[in-house]
Amino acid sequence: MDEHDGPPGVAPVPREPAAEPQVPAYPAGLAGDVDTAKGARLHVRPIRTTDGPGLAEFHRGLSDRSVYRRFFFVHPALTDVEVEHFTHVDYADRLALVAEDDGRIVAVGRYERTPGTAEAEVAFVVTDSHQQLGIGSVLLAQLARAALGRGITTFTAETLAENRAMLAVFRNSGYALTTSTEFDTVSVRFPIDALSGPAPPPG
Ligand SMILES: CC(C)(COP(=O)(O)OP(=O)(O)OC[C@H]1O[C@@H](n2cnc3c(N)ncnc32)[C@H](O)[C@@H]1OP(=O)(O)O)[C@@H](O)C(=O)NCCC(=O)NCCS
Repeated sequence: MDEHDGPPGVAPVPREPAAEPQVPAYPAGLAGDVDTAKGARLHVRPIRTTDGPGLAEFHRGLSDRSVYRRFFFVHPALTDVEVEHFTHVDYADRLALVAEDDGRIVAVGRYERTPGTAEAEVAFVVTDSHQQLGIGSVLLAQLARAALGRGITTFTAETLAENRAMLAVFRNSGYALTTSTEFDTVSVRFPIDALSGPAPPPG
């Protein structure tokens, strides 16, 4: 008798195979080339677990100002734990899209669902040389499309009140924003369902 058989008269403990860790399927349908309204051509795709080195390099190349606006503190290099967290998403409740220029990550947009709700918080960062080319706006639109297909109906965000570019991206999106300001931070909230979305192009 081995330890799994249990004492006599007691049903043996069934030997179940060890559960395999679930690897979420990569949503390749979310990948594609995109032309921004301001003429930049990029490849946008869901982040991969193998993006760690590229993401760390992308972050190291950001200005202090951009990092501060994204994280609200000075943070020149991502830790290994952060890199792991940011590159390992489930593509449903946590999703990140990267924009690549010539194979190099130049922007990241992500959402994270508030557990048990249909809401998700979004955050964006575009490398300084590529800001104001329409990339943030493209990432917001693509994230919203992906989120809607995953049962998320509202986006929220926290941004510094002085972050005019981020606020402009939200305002320009066409979604109906609700905002509230506390000290130096603006909380933004908007439904992303089709009825509240941007108007379709004329014609
Ligand atoms: C905020 C950020 C993501 C926006 O991305 P982006 O690719 O530069 O955004 P877009 O080019 O799509 O749009 C930027 C808009 O802001 C406007 N803008 C930029 N600076 C501005 C300013 N100082 N005042 C007013 N509007 C401004 C631009 O004119 C543009 O609007 P338009 O399309 O009507 O011309 C990017 O600037 C960034 O990464 N910043 C650092 C990190 C950050 O702030 N993250 C937000 C955390 S939630």
